[in-house]
Amino acid sequence: MAQIRLKNVCKRWGSFVGVDNFDLEIPDREFLVLLGPSGCGKTTTMRMIAGLETVTEGEIWLGDRMVNKLEPKDRDISMVFQSYGLYPNMTVYENIRFPLRVRRIPKEEHDKRVMRAAEMVELTDFLHRRPAALSGGQRQRVALARAIVREPNAFLMDEPLSNLDAKLRVSTRAQIKNLHHTLKTTTIYVTHDQIEAMTLADRVVVMNKGVVQQVGTPTEIYDTPANTFVAGFIGSPAMNLIAGTMKDGVFSGQNISVSGFNKSIAGEVTLGFRAEDANVATEGGEISAPIYSIELLGEATMISMRVAGELVSIKAAKDFRAEIGDTISASVPAGICHLFDSKTGARIEQD
Ligand SMILES: Nc1ncnc2c1ncn2[C@@H]1O[C@H](COP(=O)(O)OP(=O)(O)OP(=O)(O)O)[C@@H](O)[C@H]1O
Ligand SMILES: [Mg+2]
Repeated sequence: MAQIRLKNVCKRWGSFVGVDNFDLEIPDREFLVLLGPSGCGKTTTMRMIAGLETVTEGEIWLGDRMVNKLEPKDRDISMVFQSYGLYPNMTVYENIRFPLRVRRIPKEEHDKRVMRAAEMVELTDFLHRRPAALSGGQRQRVALARAIVREPNAFLMDEPLSNLDAKLRVSTRAQIKNLHHTLKTTTIYVTHDQIEAMTLADRVVVMNKGVVQQVGTPTEIYDTPANTFVAGFIGSPAMNLIAGTMKDGVFSGQNISVSGFNKSIAGEVTLGFRAEDANVATEGGEISAPIYSIELLGEATMISMRVAGELVSIKAAKDFRAEIGDTISASVPAGICHLFDSKTGARIEQD
């Protein structure tokens, strides 16, 4: 078990900044998810923690040891990659056992530990097969079992589910969650899938272009995004963001007027709201615009409209029906709205 601490960690290649001033304490047993778009520095951060990449500036601590100069093998961390990295000539059993042999764990312990790891990821029926005779999901579970068998201080998982189809992702995700509940090993998990992040994490770190944008529980990130980047990244669909002007407590833009804000906020602001918080109104709603598209989702109907130049989504009841081009009204009261500074993108607290 281990606490992981990153103190102002930077990674630069020449003038290019891969990770900028990453500063975070990850308590023992936490499941931390790094979330962000491609190229934002997730893998680089993990590789620095694992010791596969040098740190340009700052310190990495595992428990009470500063590990900047420690070899990867001495850090006692298991890493699971997107590509499984299994040995094709070895059986599943031997693949899982491999780290025990490398680390010279006494032979008499091997069988017990391999069987326990295999059981946790439901592989006991496949131990004698070679990786080529397994499905993608099964291979991924062998990689997981091989990480578990070492009983490391921490797990680093870099997009371990990205090779799996949608259904397998959901079931393997549940298995990873259950595994963490059982083992309670500090885990850092990388994904660019925000649903994976929300469902697995104790805390989420949202990154963009090497810079941490927000750290918080999934609820905090979803309910109070720190800036327009986080607001526009989290949620499916992401939060609607509309640029407009605030004056005397009224936000206005093309096809939208929302009143009831604090009068001390004025100028160019970006208004945000989630599709599921808004509603179709019979008349007199804050938004009035023609329907751009309408999608039947089964449990709801998603309507999109063009407001102040942006396509905005509103979730209506599942039996709501209308035609593209019909002008409708939507209720978006101030109470469901988030406000952001249009220049900096930063959240504006409303009370
Ligand atoms: N050895 C290197 N030399 C120079 N630039 C690098 C090197 N390795 C990574 N980078 C750059 O650093 C940035 C961060 O890369 P990283 O692999 O951490 O992204 P990521 O968040 O894991 O993205 P993805 O979701 O695509 O895996 C990228 O712009 C990448 O091109
Ligand atoms: Mg990556």
